[in-house]
Amino acid sequence: MSLTVEEAGRALADPGAYADEARLHAALTLLRREDPVRWVEAPGYNPFWAITRHADVLEIERDHEVFLNAPRPLLATAVQDEINRTRAEQGIGLRTLVHMDDPDHRVVRAIGADWFRPKAMRALEPRIRELARRYVDRMAILGDSCDFVRQVSVHYPLYVILSLLGLPESDFDRMLKLTQELFGGDDTELRRGETPEEVLEVLMEFFAYFQELTKARRARPTDDLASAIANATVDGEPLNDFDTTSYYVIIATAGHDTTSSTISGGLHALIEHPDQLRRLQDDPGLMPLAVDEMIRWVSPVKEFMRTATTDYELRGATIRAGESVVLSYPSANRDEDVFDDPFRFDVGRDPNKHLAFGFGVHYCLGAALARIETRAFFEELLPRLESIELAGTPEGTATTFVGGLKRLPIRYSLR
Ligand code: HEM
Repeated sequence: MSLTVEEAGRALADPGAYADEARLHAALTLLRREDPVRWVEAPGYNPFWAITRHADVLEIERDHEVFLNAPRPLLATAVQDEINRTRAEQGIGLRTLVHMDDPDHRVVRAIGADWFRPKAMRALEPRIRELARRYVDRMAILGDSCDFVRQVSVHYPLYVILSLLGLPESDFDRMLKLTQELFGGDDTELRRGETPEEVLEVLMEFFAYFQELTKARRARPTDDLASAIANATVDGEPLNDFDTTSYYVIIATAGHDTTSSTISGGLHALIEHPDQLRRLQDDPGLMPLAVDEMIRWVSPVKEFMRTATTDYELRGATIRAGESVVLSYPSANRDEDVFDDPFRFDVGRDPNKHLAFGFGVHYCLGAALARIETRAFFEELLPRLESIELAGTPEGTATTFVGGLKRLPIRYSLR
């Protein structure tokens, strides 16, 4: 596959490139080697610097006073950037943790932080394991074949996060549809519509749903995460409707497609590397390492962005104040300088200093939960799995933000 550095840079802003792992990684490998701090001008997008080396992603994430999340926390088209800017100015834009910087970010993050600490998450493990078992049982009920993404992996993490939030099971299907419409992003099959108005319509539905939830938890507090958010105070004042809703939205969305993509991409990697599957089945103690290798391998979050507040020198390039950088996590996680043989899927990889959860003050709040969920699923599945193979061609999601497989047809036999 012959590709110029210019084409490789533009691939970062091409949703289709992310649906084709080989094409994406050919582009990222070329950028890491030839131009790791690359100025990219892609049609339909405001220009940005593409940051593809592990060390550089880390350096930028560490320096959260120079590199801010606002006003452009993730890659969007120039039209969408403009809409976001206008909405932010009018105070009606989505304002979640990833849209914020200090001091607001620190205060708002603290509201959810206790809930997501590893110790608190471990207490939830029995409930998560029960859900994992339910989905492995579902595979058995489905017989000897299924589309693993559509029938298993999109449901399980959403159910985990919605039960953490404390929503009734009867609302789960509606939430699944809404999160996919919002996060399906650039994939025409998942997204509700083309226009910003249609995207706004999905957001408004989310808002209406969660406003009701806030009202209910304020009237009658419970011990779930929704109640913690609804009744949180900052400087003695409750959060306004907008901020509470933004909090629910980020948790319901961030906690869903990320983990489901990891589980389906992890299973795909095990199918493609039967020696690694056997190794893991023979030595279940490797599971924690295997989970992190799946997360590195899939890197379901494709990028976040930062914007420089002052001029900054990086590898001889000058990033000017006001210019934005795209931090490419899939690229950092295949960096030859950090990972021994980075294109080898190794369930015993140790050390594994991947950046799939980001780094620094915005480090993924749900990392401990994502690890427990993934581990619980494979710990339930692997002892029962006698055989597994592909039953068709897997298909990737076209998105520049969060995604992985949208179809994984498999044939299997379970004990
Ligand atoms: C932020 C990845 C699962 C909640 C992030 C970031 C990344 C990430 C890359 C941005 C970090 C940065 O800017 O440095 C992932 C991956 C997951 C996963 C790879 C699964 C394998 C989850 C889950 C939840 C969650 C299960 C919650 C239920 C969040 C939240 C933030 C975040 C709330 C914003 C944190 C902040 O800005 O302070 N995640 N995530 N994530 N994630 Fe995750």
